[in-house]
Amino acid sequence: MNNKKIAIIGAMDCEVNKLRGMLQNPEVVKKGNLSFYLGSINNHSVIIAQSGVGKVNAAVCTQVLIDTFQPDYVINTGIAGGLASDLSVGDIVAGSQLVQYDFDTSALGYAKGYMCTGVNKDKPTVFYSDEQLISEFEEAVLKSGFKSKVHKGIIATGDTFVSDGKKKQEIKEIFNASAVEMEGCAIAQCAQINSVPCLIVRAISDLANGEAAKSLDIFEKEMAEVSAQTIKILLDKIS
Ligand code: ADE
Repeated sequence: MNNKKIAIIGAMDCEVNKLRGMLQNPEVVKKGNLSFYLGSINNHSVIIAQSGVGKVNAAVCTQVLIDTFQPDYVINTGIAGGLASDLSVGDIVAGSQLVQYDFDTSALGYAKGYMCTGVNKDKPTVFYSDEQLISEFEEAVLKSGFKSKVHKGIIATGDTFVSDGKKKQEIKEIFNASAVEMEGCAIAQCAQINSVPCLIVRAISDLANGEAAKSLDIFEKEMAEVSAQTIKILLDKIS
C-alpha cells in the first residue's frame, strides 16, 4: 500500500485543520466553492477536503474529488454521537457498514433505510468500508498505544443532529447502529459507485441524547482531533 493517493474528507474545519497543517508542499485547488488541499504526508500524495455538513454536501464533495483527483482511497474523519451502550466520549468507531437511517419508504412497504436498489427490500441498504483498510486501521491504532478504544460497527447517517433519547433508541434498534453522524454513508455510497475503497472513522463527541448539544460544545474540537490523529497513525503505518 505504499505511495498511494489518499483523499481525506471531513465535514467541518475542526475535522480537517490538523491534518491540513501536516501537509508537505501544500497547494490549493478550487472547484466551485470547494477547496482541495494537496500535498504529501509520509510519501503519500494526500488530498484533504472540507465537505460541509450533511449528506448532499458530502456526496457532492466526494464525487468532485474523485472526478478531479482519482484517489486510491477515500477516508472520512470526524465526530459522531455514540449509540452502542459500551461507547463513551473519546472512543473511536470504524464504520464497517454504513446506512442512511432517514431514507424512509416504509409507507410503501419497504424496510426503513432501503434505498430502492431492487435488492433485499426487507432490509436497509448497506455500504461498506474496505475490509483491509479497517484491519490496517485497527492494527495501527492498537499498536501505536493510542489512548482511544477502537470499536468496529454500523454507522447510521442522516441529516439531523440527534439529541433525543427516543430517536437514538429507534436508530439503534432498527439499524443495530453503534454511532450516528451526518455524512459517512453518503461518502461510502459515492465511493462505492466509483469503485474507490473507503474508510469511515469517527470519534465519539456525545451520546446522541438530551445532553448531546452540551457534550458537543465541550468535546467537538478535541474529538475531531482525536479522529484525525488516528488517521495520521494509519498513514504512518501504510507508508
Ligand atoms: N455528530 C456528532 N454527534 C452527532 C449526533 N448526536 N447526531 C448527528 N451527528 C453527530
